[in-house]
Amino acid sequence: MKLFHSPASPFVRKVMVLAIEAGIADQLQCVRAAVSPVSRNKDVSIHNPSGHIPTLLLDDGTAIYDSGVICQHLDMLHDGTPFVPAEPGQRIRALGLQALGDGILTAGVLMRYESGLRPKELFWPEWYDGQREKIRGSLKLLEENWIPYLNGPVNVGIITIACALGYLDFRFPDEDWRKEYPQLAAWYETFSQRDSMQATQHSAVV
Ligand code: BEZ
Repeated sequence: MKLFHSPASPFVRKVMVLAIEAGIADQLQCVRAAVSPVSRNKDVSIHNPSGHIPTLLLDDGTAIYDSGVICQHLDMLHDGTPFVPAEPGQRIRALGLQALGDGILTAGVLMRYESGLRPKELFWPEWYDGQREKIRGSLKLLEENWIPYLNGPVNVGIITIACALGYLDFRFPDEDWRKEYPQLAAWYETFSQRDSMQATQHSAVV
């Protein structure tokens, strides 16, 4: 299987963390793909019209995307405890947490494009702040409602939250989220020591 990836993409990181946790990372052949919202990567877009990474290409030519669907696919390839639980209640909880984490990631990546790529004269501060508010609201919810769950068995939702916090640290090091959300910070401190998180730390090269 080929995984179109970039070490700077938090959605790629989510897939890689799950693959490492599942013990199947060696089945992935990582193919570097530079992506930008203003120039689609042809190698990716012939398989996935959005041009987004991660995109997974199976040996029979089937393309799988987005990160959540790739995680579900990888989860079928190992024999351990599933990272997308089968029991309906647990499944919805894990996928709901994944959606919360994906929301943080989407807002963070949009902020990154707005501040890092968009011509300075076109910068839209209200829009940027709107994305930031989505992130703060999500972190508040995690701090208030999700800490015991985050300390439970690892699943796709928990992995997504860890990757979201890692991306905030990577691209927005001045956002001091730890002060406002100390329990979340303590959880992340421990979770980020896992081999899967250490092996997938972001690198600034896109
Ligand atoms: C980034 O450089 O922050 C980035 C790269 C690829 C996908 C998403 C974000």
